[in-house]
Amino acid sequence: MSGKATVIAPSNIAFIKYWGTRDEERVLPFNPSLSMTLTNCFSITTVEHLDDEGADEVFQSGRGGVLEAASATFAARVEEHLERLRRWAGIGGRFRVATENSFPMGTGMASSASGFAALTLALVRALDREVDTAELTVLARRSGSGSAARSVLGGYVIWPAGDGDEGGHAVAVAPAEHWDLRDVIAVLDGTPKLVSSREGHRRAPSSPYFERRLELLPERLDRVRAAIERRSFVDLAPAVEEEAIDLHLIAMSSRPPIFYWQPATLRVLAEVRRLRTSGLEVCATMDAGANVHAICSARDEPRVSEAIEGLPEVGSVIRDGVGAGPITVQEHLF
Ligand code: DP6
Repeated sequence: MSGKATVIAPSNIAFIKYWGTRDEERVLPFNPSLSMTLTNCFSITTVEHLDDEGADEVFQSGRGGVLEAASATFAARVEEHLERLRRWAGIGGRFRVATENSFPMGTGMASSASGFAALTLALVRALDREVDTAELTVLARRSGSGSAARSVLGGYVIWPAGDGDEGGHAVAVAPAEHWDLRDVIAVLDGTPKLVSSREGHRRAPSSPYFERRLELLPERLDRVRAAIERRSFVDLAPAVEEEAIDLHLIAMSSRPPIFYWQPATLRVLAEVRRLRTSGLEVCATMDAGANVHAICSARDEPRVSEAIEGLPEVGSVIRDGVGAGPITVQEHLF
C-alpha cells in the first residue's frame, strides 16, 4: 500500500538547553531541557511511501519555491533517518520526500528540530500508523537532532534526561494558550556555523565546568518551570539568561573551544539589558550560533522588535511566538 502525508512542524527555542550527549546512538542527553515551541519558523514536509524497489528520493525547496534535489549532506541525513524508520515500521519499499522551511536557509536558524519532527510525523501518517505522542517524540529524536523531540509538541515542552538506555520522552508542561510569549530573533549571521551541535555535544564534557553545570541545572530548571506556571516574567528572565550564558561558557571552555558569538551578539545582549532596565519584559537566549532570541511578553513585543530592528549590527529580524505544535495539512509539496 502506498500513502502520502504532509506535516508542518515548528522550530523551538530552548530556555534550558540540551548540551552534551551521554549516548550518541540513542540520542540521550546528560540533562533535561525545556523549550517553547514557535509558530512562524517551521518546516513543511511531504512523505510518500512507494511499494517499488529503488532508492529514496529527497527534494528541497530551492529559489522561487521550486523543488530540486537536496544537497548530498542533507539527503544523507534524511536517508539515514528514513532507513531507521523503515526498520522501525518493519516495511520495505522506498520513500519520496520533499521539504521546505519558512525561514531562509543560511540565517543561522537551525532547521533540524522542525525538519526532523516534520519528517517523522509525515512518514508515520503516510504509513497510516497509530503511534502515541510519547513514541513520536522518541522517533523524532532518533534522527540525531535531540531537539526534534520537543518540536513534536506545542506550547512549553520538557524533554527529561531519563535514566537507563531508553531515556525519556518529551511532554508538554503547559499549552501555548497558557502564556503568550514572543521570540524576536535578531538574525546576525548569514554563514553556516563552523562547529555543529553534534560536535558541540561531544565536546561538552571536556569543559572543566561541565560537572558544575549539571549540579546547578535542577534548581534552574525548577525556576523556569515555576516561572512558566505562574506566568512570572521577572522570575523567568534571570534563569533564561543564566542558562544561555552557561551553554556558551561550556562551549568556549570545551577542548578544543567553540566560539559561537560574534561582536554583534554582545551588542544585541546589551540592548536587551537596556530595554529590560527601562521596564520592558524581555530577556535573551542564544542557541549554538550567533543569533540572539529576545524572549518577551506580547505587550512589549512591538517595542522590542523596533529597538532590535534599529540596531545597525542586525541583519534582519524574525518575529515569532509560542505556538500549538505540528499540524497535518492536505496540500502536498508534490
Ligand atoms: C543549543 O542536537 O538538537 O539548540 O540538531 O543542530 O538542532 P540540531 O541540534 P540538537 O541540539 C540542540 C542544541 C541547542 C540547545 C537546545 O535546543 O536544547
